[in-house]
Amino acid sequence: MAPLLVLLPLLVSLSSVPPSSSSSQDPAADLFFPGFRRAAAAGNITLSGVAEIDGRGVLRLTNETGRLMGHAFYPSPLRFKSSPDGGVSSFSASFVLAVVPEYPKLGGHGLAFVVSAARDFRALPSQYLGLLNASDMGNSSNHLFAVEFDTVQDFEFGDINDNHVGIDINSLVSNASAPAAYYAAGDDLTKLDLNLKSGRAIQAWVDYDSSEKVINVTIAPSSVKPKKPILSFNVDLSPIFREFMYVGFSASTGLLASSHYVMGWSFCIDGVARALEISSLPPLPGAEKKHPHTALAIGISVLSVVLVVSAVLLAVVIVRRIKNADVVEEWELEIGPHRFSYQELKQATNGFKEKQLLGQGGFGKVYRGTLPSSKIQVAVKRISHESKQGLREFVSEISSIGRLRHRNLVQLLGWCRKRGDLLLVYEYMANGSLDMYLFDEPKATLVWEQRFRIVKGVASGLLYLHEGYEQVVIHRDVKSSNVLLDDELNGRLGDFGLARLYDHGSNPGTTRVVGTLGYLAPETPRTGKASASSDMFAFGAFLLEVACGRRPIDHEAGPEELVLVDLVWERYKEGRVLDLVDRKLQGEYNEGEVMAVLKLGLLCSNCNPTERPTMRQVVRYLDGEVDVPEVATAPSGYDCTKAGQGHRFEDFQLSFPSSSFDKMSSTSFMANRDASFASLSTSPISILNGRGESA
Ligand SMILES: *[C@@H]1O[C@H](CO)[C@@H](O)[C@H](O)[C@H]1NC(C)=O
Ligand SMILES: *[C@@H]1O[C@H](CO)[C@@H](O)[C@H](O)[C@H]1NC(C)=O
Ligand SMILES: *[C@@H]1O[C@H](CO)[C@@H](O)[C@H](O)[C@H]1NC(C)=O
Repeated sequence: MAPLLVLLPLLVSLSSVPPSSSSSQDPAADLFFPGFRRAAAAGNITLSGVAEIDGRGVLRLTNETGRLMGHAFYPSPLRFKSSPDGGVSSFSASFVLAVVPEYPKLGGHGLAFVVSAARDFRALPSQYLGLLNASDMGNSSNHLFAVEFDTVQDFEFGDINDNHVGIDINSLVSNASAPAAYYAAGDDLTKLDLNLKSGRAIQAWVDYDSSEKVINVTIAPSSVKPKKPILSFNVDLSPIFREFMYVGFSASTGLLASSHYVMGWSFCIDGVARALEISSLPPLPGAEKKHPHTALAIGISVLSVVLVVSAVLLAVVIVRRIKNADVVEEWELEIGPHRFSYQELKQATNGFKEKQLLGQGGFGKVYRGTLPSSKIQVAVKRISHESKQGLREFVSEISSIGRLRHRNLVQLLGWCRKRGDLLLVYEYMANGSLDMYLFDEPKATLVWEQRFRIVKGVASGLLYLHEGYEQVVIHRDVKSSNVLLDDELNGRLGDFGLARLYDHGSNPGTTRVVGTLGYLAPETPRTGKASASSDMFAFGAFLLEVACGRRPIDHEAGPEELVLVDLVWERYKEGRVLDLVDRKLQGEYNEGEVMAVLKLGLLCSNCNPTERPTMRQVVRYLDGEVDVPEVATAPSGYDCTKAGQGHRFEDFQLSFPSSSFDKMSSTSFMANRDASFASLSTSPISILNGRGESA
């Protein structure tokens, strides 16, 4: 009882203190926005960039589009010092934020709580968080204080990880930072991880104590404030703050994007910010609270629908089995994506007519079709009986690849099996494969902007495969003929037939060596391992072919010009690398972008896999966030002996009898290159190529 008695007078005295204390007379610095609908109506919040407040009062600073900025500030500056030369008063902020990334594991930059001298920012998006530009970083005239919630690891800013909280003064290189985490309630002070980009509400508290000169940042997944802050930084803010400062929020997206939300905010100078309750704030779009009865009703109706559907399905399966003797094996039931009926696909492709044929490879044909029910255009890959490749081989493609979702990947829509035939249904890509626009006097060519956009798209798709999915996906056959163009000429990576998956953090196991010569990393035959860095090697070859409009190995060219990467390296050393830019561009291109692509092509072609940039770095280079460094080491053509790393091409053939290779071995390639090239450059659906048994 005793502690309570002591507390009571204290509570009374606290509640009798007016919200803004006597030391700062004007303006009243006690903001309270439990949702922003009223604030927006009363003109108490100023938005800029793409920031908006939705009908329920949730502030959305950015949406899931790349390279955006959004700001939201209290319109008038607040008085932080009692005189121009005085000390900064204590202040306290509390707010509820949520970060919803476009792809669950890949954050697209971050959000910051900001106190600044101005609120019109001539700033950059991405890692600059919409607060500063590259030239004014670290400038003491910025008068900028921010607490960042960053979901990307920016190496040049020395970020500790891709999920951290940092205190930034006049710069985006944090003065102090900590991985996002919170202390559990109770006295044992257990530290628990907190994922900023989980898409769920997170409450944050920022408190400055003017007597101790310390900033404390506390976060939690609920409105219960943990006893211990996650970040504590000793600093006297007096030199940084002016007498009057603006307060608000800023957020930005990069090439990858997240929606950044603030659902509520309270702020107080010389006092404690009023408490916010997450449950009483407007809900995030798409996360509406359901009434328990409604939920129950929905649950029951869903259950009954499920029961009816399952009964029908069961009946259908039994009837099918009897009628068709088309046995559904156990593995087929484990497969996620939609199973089409054979009739449906037959109808879609006019009975697999020759006229519908898009392409043909050693193991099957690809037909264009229109699904009868939805009228959606599709490409149907039919894997023929004669194929030596077992159906099992494609099960991985269906079950794992079918769950990948990214706008720069060709989506597998479903599949069907009828006796020995396996049919895979993909989105139809109206504009065929990229190689058709690059090589051998193409009918149509692409201007540089289009090419650069395709390159960036493919990079973003590959980053998703390497880092954005629940497993690491190694594509193993990146090349222009596997890049398909949709009706808006977006580059989309297709043909996952060779893809391998392994868990993040584990080592890829050895597999059969597959890939296409000219794109195959030199260490792959030696180690038998496909890794993210071997994909990077192929991506390097892809970059060079897009910029130069030539194949990685061009047999039409003279012996010195046979290997494109060697040629690019020679010209690069001579300082005339732009001579190699595709003539079909007629000199019309952005020199900085072309140079970046060529240099990246060389960097990715490094003999040593550990020297190659990662996909994440490449995305940032292509995004222009960082300049591509000069290339210092010779890349590998298919001759890495110069660098003492690998095998000459001849060794490589000798040491790998063709039987241990997958289909597209160097031997078959060399024996019948013209045939291979012909098939590579004509088929619009290149999922057929690259491992065809044609050679
Ligand atoms: C918001 O605007 C109203 C009307 O303009 C004003 O009376 C009120 O004090 C403002 N609230 C805050 C927190 O400044
Ligand atoms: C995001 O906002 C920008 C600018 O308001 C708009 O052009 C874009 O279409 C929006 N993107 C999405 C995915 O809503
Ligand atoms: C950077 O921002 C400052 C002020 O915020 C501005 O004066 C300067 O012109 C900007 N620089 C560039 C390159 O945009």
